[in-house]
Amino acid sequence: MRKIAIIGLAAALAASCARSQEPVVTSPDGSLQLRIDDEDGVLRYSVSKDGECIVLPSRLGFELMGGNTLGDRTEILSVEKEKTRTSWETVWGEQRIIEDRHNGMTVHTANLDIEVRVFDDGLGFRYIFPEHLGDIDIREELTEYRFARGDHKAWWMPRSEPYYEAYAEHTGFADITEAYTPVTITGADGRFYSIHEAALLDFAKVNLIPEDSGTLKTSLTKLSDGAAVHMTLTRTSPWRTLLVSDTAGGLIESRVMLNLNEPCKIEDTSWIKPGKYIGIWWILHKYLYTWYYDAENPQEHGATTERTKRYIDFAAENDIQGVLVEGWNVGWNGDWMRNSENFSFTEAYPDYDFDEVMSYARSKGVQMVIHNETAANTEHYFSQIDEAYAKYRDAGMHYVKTGNVNLLMDGKEEHDSQYGVNKLHEIVEKAAEYQICIDEHEPCIPTGLCRTWPNLMTGEAIRGQEHDAWERDGGNKPEHQTVCPFIRGLAGPMDYTFGTFDFSNPNSPFSRVRTTIAKQLAQYVVIYSPLQMASDDPSAYEGVKAFDFIRDVPTDWEQTKVVDAVIGDYIITARQERNGSDWYLGAITDENARDLQVPLSFLGKGEWLAQVYADAPDASYEDNPTAVAYSEMEVTAASTLDLHLATSGGCAIRFIPKSR
Ligand code: NOJ
Ligand code: CA
Repeated sequence: MRKIAIIGLAAALAASCARSQEPVVTSPDGSLQLRIDDEDGVLRYSVSKDGECIVLPSRLGFELMGGNTLGDRTEILSVEKEKTRTSWETVWGEQRIIEDRHNGMTVHTANLDIEVRVFDDGLGFRYIFPEHLGDIDIREELTEYRFARGDHKAWWMPRSEPYYEAYAEHTGFADITEAYTPVTITGADGRFYSIHEAALLDFAKVNLIPEDSGTLKTSLTKLSDGAAVHMTLTRTSPWRTLLVSDTAGGLIESRVMLNLNEPCKIEDTSWIKPGKYIGIWWILHKYLYTWYYDAENPQEHGATTERTKRYIDFAAENDIQGVLVEGWNVGWNGDWMRNSENFSFTEAYPDYDFDEVMSYARSKGVQMVIHNETAANTEHYFSQIDEAYAKYRDAGMHYVKTGNVNLLMDGKEEHDSQYGVNKLHEIVEKAAEYQICIDEHEPCIPTGLCRTWPNLMTGEAIRGQEHDAWERDGGNKPEHQTVCPFIRGLAGPMDYTFGTFDFSNPNSPFSRVRTTIAKQLAQYVVIYSPLQMASDDPSAYEGVKAFDFIRDVPTDWEQTKVVDAVIGDYIITARQERNGSDWYLGAITDENARDLQVPLSFLGKGEWLAQVYADAPDASYEDNPTAVAYSEMEVTAASTLDLHLATSGGCAIRFIPKSR
């Protein structure tokens, strides 16, 4: 039983309030419940689903620098409840209208308040640090996730891999070293869980380490002085989130993380537009051309005015909205990671005429995605950022791809430390001032801030396709893309950059894209981003029928349904285009060929024309990746499709209503 504080009149009032309000919240549909208790003076939460305990009483609180703690030797003073039933429209996303239906409470204790929101498909809680605590320094967060069963397994990414560019592993909790979140749990009870966070700002990122076979506990990313957070102005922690689903796909369909972020802060969002882009990029990673300009060997430089114009022409002719150019600006010569102060974000190499390229792009209605590699030197970046962004804006351009290659930001702190989180966010707010959308490479893993700042459109934090160009282990293993949507994908848009049609890799023959072309296509539906790259050189697409799918597929959706999936084996995703009626389906498999049955019940009434891009019968990722069989058929919502996927293969389908 909870104890009731009787310390003077105020506490007595609080106590009577506490009596009338139990510290328990149940989801709108009654299935998910979170309870907080203060037994023995220690704050703990527990969670039940359909009446069954799924998370045992688990610690809440913090350890401060100097050894004091928050969340113990305390008691619940009062509880306030709230209920929200509303919906909001996304600027872009996997779903246009998102319902926010939750029940909530705030639990007050003497030195720490806890705010809780419980949705039907997951929950979030965050800490509120009362002002009277003053400027505190947090050493560690004590939040635990003490699952009721000790035999769950988790998909997790090791924190030892930089930039989150890791494969996820599937193990028991005991084998987790230290994991980035999201950590996705395949429950021994048949359920799926995912732990992550929402609205990470002015705080340190959550990582998880095992305590016992059923318990994970928080390990915040530390600053170099040993503290995790120096708290001054921001008095709330990010939300700690737990998704609970009966299906793996339910995790992807959950909008809990976005609901826990603040509404959009940008008034006029008309300049924020999803789309596709090509780029002078893959040819650089294949070492066919260089980022740097060498006056002795100018023909080796990738980013020339002439080549860029060719890319712009291709984009304009093929309904591709953007062109990325890397290596256009001065600073790439020599060891740019160590000499990042050489980067200019306004001065181009002699063979790249910035103004001419911009005006050519404008004349063709194409947006340039302007590359700014900072090498994680934000101090240097900020010394030029206003001038650079003003120049881009004045040229009519709204997209910047940032890069933060270097293990420490400004040579001192990790990307997802409180310092890194704040620096990276400053860039996003600065970009919004200049109407610039950001594609952030080597970022802090996303936490749904794109709801508040929709100009933060996409990012890396993934072992993306660039690894297929040069990785000594041969390139991304075929299983990888069937896992990404369930781990990294739950955090937000992924700039994975697929689109390979030419599998040759002359300068790094030990590595290649290990999929079929049909799987490349299907990834445009399965792996979500509002900005999607068609990464190959345009010459690889000329005259190839499969490119029609890349041209057609939207990057912004009315709704999303995961038809079926087994994490690490296969996933089938269907999405309906925003502001239109067509549906698109992507199915991908791991290294195993697979026959899948796909019921089309997601389609609306009437007859539909299905344009099917499948692996040809003799396709395989090792020996015959380019064999795509295109066919058309008539289907209805009552149809079931039989799909054959080759090894590391896929299938991509566009459904068009026949009545149109
Ligand atoms: C790493 C980024 O992920 C990649 O896309 C970019 O080409 C290089 N850094 C160079 O900035
Ligand atoms: Ca990278």
